[in-house]
Amino acid sequence: MTTRPYPFTKLPFGGDWNPEQWERPVWNEDVQLFEHAGIDLLSVNIFAWTALQPAEDTYDFTRLDEVLALLESRGLRACLGTGTAAIPAWMATAFPDVMRVDEQGRQHRFGGRHNACPNSPTYRRFAPALAGQLAKRYAGRDVVALWHVSNEYGGACYCPRCEGAFRVWLRERYGTLEALNHAWNAAFWSQTITAWDEIIAPNELSVQGGERTTAVQGLTLDYQRFMSDALLGAYRLEVDAIRAEIPDAVITTNLMGTYRPLDYRAWAPHLDVIAWDSYPSPQDTPAAIALRHTLMRSLKGGQPFMLMEQTPSQQNWQAYNALKRPGVMRLQSWQAVAHGADAVMFFQMRRSVGACEKFHGAVMEHHGRTDTRVFREVAQLGAELKALGSATLGARTPARVAVWFDWPAWWAVENSSGPTAALHYLREVTALYTAFHSQGYAVDLVGPDSDLSPYGVVASTLLYLLPTGAAEKLTAFVEGGGMFLAGLMSGVADESDRVFPGGPPGPLKELLGVWVEEVDALPPGETNGVVFQGGLSGTHDCTLLFEQLRVEDAEVLGAYAQDFYAGSPVLTRRRAGEGQAWKLGTSLDAAGLRTLTRALCDEAGVRPLVPELPAGLEVTQRDGDGGSFLFVLNHTAQEQRLDVPGLTGTDVLNGEAVDGTVTLPPHGVRIVRRDAAGATA
Ligand code: GLA
Ligand code: ZN
Repeated sequence: MTTRPYPFTKLPFGGDWNPEQWERPVWNEDVQLFEHAGIDLLSVNIFAWTALQPAEDTYDFTRLDEVLALLESRGLRACLGTGTAAIPAWMATAFPDVMRVDEQGRQHRFGGRHNACPNSPTYRRFAPALAGQLAKRYAGRDVVALWHVSNEYGGACYCPRCEGAFRVWLRERYGTLEALNHAWNAAFWSQTITAWDEIIAPNELSVQGGERTTAVQGLTLDYQRFMSDALLGAYRLEVDAIRAEIPDAVITTNLMGTYRPLDYRAWAPHLDVIAWDSYPSPQDTPAAIALRHTLMRSLKGGQPFMLMEQTPSQQNWQAYNALKRPGVMRLQSWQAVAHGADAVMFFQMRRSVGACEKFHGAVMEHHGRTDTRVFREVAQLGAELKALGSATLGARTPARVAVWFDWPAWWAVENSSGPTAALHYLREVTALYTAFHSQGYAVDLVGPDSDLSPYGVVASTLLYLLPTGAAEKLTAFVEGGGMFLAGLMSGVADESDRVFPGGPPGPLKELLGVWVEEVDALPPGETNGVVFQGGLSGTHDCTLLFEQLRVEDAEVLGAYAQDFYAGSPVLTRRRAGEGQAWKLGTSLDAAGLRTLTRALCDEAGVRPLVPELPAGLEVTQRDGDGGSFLFVLNHTAQEQRLDVPGLTGTDVLNGEAVDGTVTLPPHGVRIVRRDAAGATA
């Protein structure tokens, strides 16, 4: 799959604009305010299906023609939606198969959005047809910079057509019922399937008892894979329809970061540029936000991505929609750029007057004024992005540390009943990522198909599901000199969620030199301790799960502090070839993880971007044709100072020279272009 070149020469700035909700005079006001705020890219037509196709055999592009002409006349560009994310009333009425059936088996009726059955013949006919019509009409128009297919694909359908398609999908995967029954261990509770059409979608009428409870985990896991594929299939139909008219169109859709239902690694090859919507909750740590950017950047091997949506001020759909404090929208925008964004976009340009997003923040609020905090902050950012020009465009974020992130592992470990209900994949992976990130290491996220050769360290936790070939790949990584950490619950199950013969860590047993005898699970709040030894020192709290490791061929670097397994190993290391394989059997506290991750990096000769990173500061680096840039972000409400011995350069935002020290106002951002002499590889 070839990826088309990025269609911009500066970071585009803008966001969702919904002129269909407004009269013409408001459009004219809007384009003036775009100019005022340095806005140059508008996502249009995202929810316009009914307007474009008011009846089965009628298309009407009059208004969209006008919208695009207006943008064109102002030198603005469009990220053109295909408009297929909400089903028109006429379609839902005439073709009820287009609507989804939910987890409770209820057939949905007209209303809302993101509601199409991906296997509905109606949807699969009408959606690509509309995309094709749009592409035909607007082919060759420079005002259309890129294509935005549908919107935020997600959710699942359990209708009879999906069930039928699932049977076909399973037949392709397993070939025989014998293989399928084996994969699902179906003899358990007499779940054996004796004919393909007996297979039932796993919803609450069959095996599911809510999102995280299923009687047959292999079945549920396969449905998760299948539904991610089915939605991708629907996306691809529209892509093909656009491509048929415009072979070199740049096409994407907006992803949602750490969104569980879709395996974005499988999606990524079909997007020309990754685009995603960042809506952190006010409680999210900067590292949790950074992880999502990192994940999105990692989907295409480090290719820059688009921040397609964020709110300029507040959301409406959280329980408590706190305003972004002064400076925070700017800070979070630059944070995205720091991690590889080559676009900064908002939802939305103008706040709607009715329906469920009328309390969602916008560049232009109900009061319609520009002499406001939010508008000023937007305009300031627009001016900064204009001044930055093309400097960071296309620049990469080199990293020598990788943290493992894999959707099927996430699905499988959270589908499991036991050993603890408190297990959350994202929480554990975020803690591990944070340990590196908070010490100033540049980090990537990798999965089973990633090239591990750039990395000195590959760290994992909940590497629960190990696809075929992963253990061999990790073994080769270690033998070639890499430091590998296998955390909690690693190497438990194969791709169908069948536990490996001999128990965990399954095919990693030889590499790690340990096996797991028992796993204790204690309620939240109950802790044990890890007493570091063998070169590491200190004692740290640990929680959640407590694996009893039996050592066959490894050094012990940490032991439990108490309980009947006090003194028994919890952290081990085995040297193999040129590298080392470490195993941790519990969920370690933040300080313990920092010590452990620093030790791994030291062993690998991997250095952080700055020697000492004060709490609340974040650093990243982007290297490209425009130079090598050190981003320093202050996530605190206090002034901060960062010493970087040897750093000389120029702050690209204010033009000031930097020599060894970076000072930052509260929520401040500095982007230092290193002098050639000070540039590091
Ligand atoms: C998503 C959608 C937008 C809008 C925002 C609100 O990101 O793509 O249409 O609903 O959420 O936060
Ligand atoms: Zn369906």
